[in-house]
This record gives sequence, C-alpha cells and structure tokens, in this order.
Amino acid sequence: MKRKVNSLGWGVRKEGRNIWTRNAVKGISVRKERRKRDGRNEWRLWDPTKSKIAASLLRTRLNPSEIIPLPGDNCLYLGSSTGGTVSHIHDCVCGSGNHHKGQIIAIDISTRMMRDLVRLSEIRPGIVPVLADARDIKQISPFINKKVDWLHQDLSISDQAKTFVKVAEVFLKTNGIGLLSLKAASERVSDGSTENKFEKAQDILENSNLEVIERIDLKGLEEQHVLFYCRLNK
Ligand SMILES: C[S@@+](CC[C@H](N)C(=O)[O-])C[C@H]1O[C@@H](n2cnc3c(N)ncnc32)[C@H](O)[C@@H]1O
Repeated sequence: MKRKVNSLGWGVRKEGRNIWTRNAVKGISVRKERRKRDGRNEWRLWDPTKSKIAASLLRTRLNPSEIIPLPGDNCLYLGSSTGGTVSHIHDCVCGSGNHHKGQIIAIDISTRMMRDLVRLSEIRPGIVPVLADARDIKQISPFINKKVDWLHQDLSISDQAKTFVKVAEVFLKTNGIGLLSLKAASERVSDGSTENKFEKAQDILENSNLEVIERIDLKGLEEQHVLFYCRLNK
C-alpha cells in the first residue's frame, strides 16, 4: 500500500511517520541519512531522534507547517553544531543554489563543530557560519543586519530560557517565530524535577514579550526535552 504524503510547506513533507526535505544538493547526504528520488527531485530523510525540530513536527498538536520557516526567510540558529538540522532548514528556506534567497545565520561556540559547518556552508549558499558565544549579544550582532523571521535555540547551557528571551527581544521580528529546545539536564541552576524545570522556563518566557503557543513534549524521540513554540508579540 502506498503511504500518504502530506506537504508541510515548500520542500518538506511527511510520509507515514517519516519527514523528508527536498535535497538542495542532490547526491550528497549530510549525516549519512537516506536519500530517495522522486522524478527530478531528491529527498533526504530528517531523523527526529537527531533533530528537535523534526521531532516537534511529529509531536505537535497544532499544524506542523507553522513551525518551519518559509522559503526566503531570514533565520537565526543558535547551537548549530555540525549543521545536521541547519541543512534541513536550508533545504526549505534556500533550496538549490539558494534560489529562494533565504539566509540562516548559524552560530556555535565550538571550533570543532565550526569546521564542519564551514564546509557545509561552502556547498549550501545561504548558510552563514559564525563562531561565537550565543549568550553574548555583542559577539553575534555584527552578523545580523536585520531582524529575523525565525529563531531556533538549541544550546546545551544553563539559563536556556533567559538567553532565549534576551536574543529574541533583540533580533526577532514582531510576529516572528521563536523555537526554544530545552533540555532539562542542562538547567543546573533550577532545582527540582524535570517538570519543575520546564515550568520555570515557561514562566520566564511568559514574563517576556513572547507568547508561548505550544509546549511540545518530545518524549520517545528526545528524552527530557521539550520545544517551546513561541511568537514575539512586540
Ligand atoms: C545539542 S547541540 C546542537 C545540535 C543541533 N542543533 C542539531 O540539531 O544538529 C548543542 C550545541 O550548542 C553549542 N553551544 C553550547 N554553548 C554554546 C554557546 N554559549 N554559544 C554557542 N553555541 C554553544 C555546542 O557546541 C553544541 O554544538
């Protein structure tokens, strides 16, 4: 039996329980992921156990297409690592040769991660790799020349929610989408259970200009993680 294919927007689709993005660089996988042809196009499998965004697309109770940025969007990604998730976002926002004219400013503090990210940006125009501490507005602001439409933060640090609010209030457009992937184990400063840590982070978000649209539990795909799907109100 043929699986039902649902488009989640340009260059991203759900087939059964799998998410695929339209490969902007045909013939090349980024993390050894499966590829498949469909007519003139090639699709790459987006692993939800290695990407909190892919996991959220499967776990959200709302319309998943609202979470992903649009072709041509200007995006800021904090904690890009070697660029696994960034590459799938690039498939949607930039496409082959960046014909959508999108941009993903991808920040990571680790020189080891940055080496791979720079290599990725050489074959995927539109990715701007930046070696910097994402907590420091002064370090990242020279690379962000206009407010962004979409922000994702995936940093293994404590005070994740405070950092997210600070960055969103400076760099996110009004009505822009902000996604915070929160790992309970990294929140060393707040005592208590995992649930308590998530509640404390949510309080911080709700006491800012951000509106929490959904707290997406990633259980079964990324343990002890939630993704806060937010919008900036002003
Ligand atoms: C969980 S990994 C990100 C995985 C990545 N988002 C993905 O889906 O492929 C967290 C990353 O945050 C980076 N990081 C940690 N602290 C940071 C900071 N203060 N500024 C920028 N990057 C940081 C780490 O080097 C690491 O690559």
